[in-house]
Amino acid sequence: MVMISPSLLSADFAILGEEVKRITEAGADLLHLDIMDGHYVPNLTFGVPVVKALRPLTKIPFDVHLMVENPDFYVEPLAAAGAEMVTVHVEAARHLHRTLQAIKGNGLKAGVALNPATPLCTLEHVLSELDLILIMSVNPGFGGQKFIPGSVGKVASLKKMLQEAGAAPLIAVDGGMNRETAPQMIAAGADIIVAGSAVFGAPDLKEAIAALRG
Ligand code: DX5
Ligand code: ZN
Repeated sequence: MVMISPSLLSADFAILGEEVKRITEAGADLLHLDIMDGHYVPNLTFGVPVVKALRPLTKIPFDVHLMVENPDFYVEPLAAAGAEMVTVHVEAARHLHRTLQAIKGNGLKAGVALNPATPLCTLEHVLSELDLILIMSVNPGFGGQKFIPGSVGKVASLKKMLQEAGAAPLIAVDGGMNRETAPQMIAAGADIIVAGSAVFGAPDLKEAIAALRG
């Protein structure tokens, strides 16, 4: 069954701890934490200390999405802070294979994210290293943006590429997910739906998560 990973970016930052408890009770499978450094993307969020502070509040695995220029700096600290999955952007990693090995070497699940303009072929030589592939269906940096429709075909092509290669990383999608777009991505092969505004912006978190499962 598809997993829902609510993005904390759309939560109320004044009461982050309460939001983590609320989303846990609402049935989230994972918690998506967007770390942005104001360089790789034109926005700045939070860092490892916040991940560490939130970790004791829930048992849900932490799915960390690094939108930073130097992802290697964060791998070990994130492992120490209790993250389970770390996803780096293929465009940001200077030595992607080395970075993925560092993530796995720290006992974490390794993911790679692709921006809307980044082709699937960038993954070809690292497929065997991957636990997760994150397809961005908006340009990274902000919540609440409009879904880019071509992302559905990209997920379908990725699914086919993985089947042909005999590889089985999970496919996650991030950006503009709501009750109309999520079913299209699930039909195309997505295993994880990341959603910020569609979950935290809803009056009933539990109903919003259930609706995304389709
Ligand atoms: C954007 C982030 C997303 C963001 C998605 O760069 O990676 O995780 O929170 O927000 P929504 O679901 O509102 O598009
Ligand atoms: Zn994200």
